[in-house]
Order: sequence, then structure tokens, then C-alpha cells
Amino acid sequence: MSLRHDAWRACPGHRFRRIKLLPTDVTVRLATLADVSEIADMSRALIETGLGWTWTRERVGRNIASPNTVTVVACDLERVVGFAIMYFGDDHAHLSLLAVRRSYQHTGIGRHLVRWLEESALVAGIATIRLELRAGNRAARRFYERLGFAEVGRIPDYYAGVETAVRMARDIRRAQSGPLPDVRSLLR
Ligand SMILES: CC(C)(COP(=O)(O)OP(=O)(O)OC[C@H]1O[C@@H](n2cnc3c(N)ncnc32)[C@H](O)[C@@H]1OP(=O)(O)O)[C@@H](O)C(=O)NCCC(=O)NCCS
Repeated sequence: MSLRHDAWRACPGHRFRRIKLLPTDVTVRLATLADVSEIADMSRALIETGLGWTWTRERVGRNIASPNTVTVVACDLERVVGFAIMYFGDDHAHLSLLAVRRSYQHTGIGRHLVRWLEESALVAGIATIRLELRAGNRAARRFYERLGFAEVGRIPDYYAGVETAVRMARDIRRAQSGPLPDVRSLLR
């Protein structure tokens, strides 16, 4: 069992909680294999548009099952409305995927999912979170900048050999002042 999963298991009963202050009846929880299809379909429609489909159901399923990856979903009463997949390395974590259904965008779900994972990463001893996004995705870039991420590099042809990636990072330890947070605080 990895340190990351231990961190979650340390707070049983706190994995299914209503998000505070969101205008919709949305809850956040760890993903299960039952969420694979919705996550993969959202990835294809919202993230990989025009690039082919690399985050297939099989790949999403492997990530959900991996002890080194945490996948979080936001759900309304009927379906998954947002998700994030983060890989946990030794010193840094990598935010592999993040998406929110269009009808739910700009309601704070994306921010909440990222902060949820950041709190988990801090507990797991992670110093830095990195991610890549398509250079043409200006909306996502502004979103990440709003959350404290900054560009640290560019990788030409990163996406299917046709689109540059912008690499962004955030030093979550530096951003965190004071004692380590209680990971449960975001779930209340
Ligand atoms: C990027 C994305 C995840 C943002 O999620 P969201 O739930 O809509 O974002 P939030 O409502 O949590 O917004 C958080 C902050 O980012 C800002 N923001 C969000 N979308 C923005 C946009 N299109 N342009 C500028 N700023 C934006 C918000 O203004 C907000 O700041 P504020 O609270 O100070 O006003 C969502 O738009 C999305 O799924 N896009 C398609 C997939 C994608 O591009 N994923 C990221 C690359 S993998």
C-alpha cells in the first residue's frame, strides 16, 4: 500500500462529502472502476479534441487501479461532472488530467478538485505539482495561473506531434504557510 493511499485511508468516513459553498448539489469522492467510461469519454470530448484518444477506458482504468495515482471525481445526483487524475512521484506529483463538464464550468469544481489533490499531496510529502496543457488552451492556462501555477517550459510537438505543450508547476510547500493542513478540512 502506498503512502498516498494510506493518507486517504487515515480518514475513513471522509471520502464522500458535499462540497461546501458550491451552487449545485455536487459531491467529491475517489473514483472507482465504475467511473471509467465517463472519465474516458469526458477526456476525449473536453481535453483530447482533435488529437486522437490516448486516455482510453483501459488507460483510465489502469490509473484508477494504480497505487501511485489518485483519481477524484465530482458528481451530481446522476453522473460524473468533473474529474482529476494525479500521479504521485517521490518529490513531485503530476496532474495528468482535469476536466469539468461544460454545464458545470465556472462553478468552482475545477478549483476544488485541484485543491483537494494538493492537500493530499502535501500530506504525502510532495513538494511540487507539475502539469502540461495544450499551448492553445488559453482558458486552462488562465485557470491554472489563477490557482498559482506558473509556466516553467515548453515542449514542441508534445501532443500527437502537432501541438506544443506548456509545462506549468506550483511549489505547494512554499505556497503553504503554517502547519500542515488537515486533509479532511476540504471535505467538510
Ligand atoms: C479548465 C477547467 C478544468 C476549469 O474548471 P472550472 O470548474 O470551470 O474552473 P473554476 O470554476 O474552478 O474556476 C477557478 C478559477 O479559474 C478561473 N477560470 C476558470 N475558467 C476560466 C476561463 N475559461 N478563463 C479564465 N479564467 C477561468 C475562474 O475565474 C476562477 O477564478 P475565480 O474563482 O478567482 O473567479 C474547465 O474549464 C475544463 O474542464 N476545461 C476543459 C478541459 C481542460 O481544458 N482541462 C485542463 C487541461 S487538461
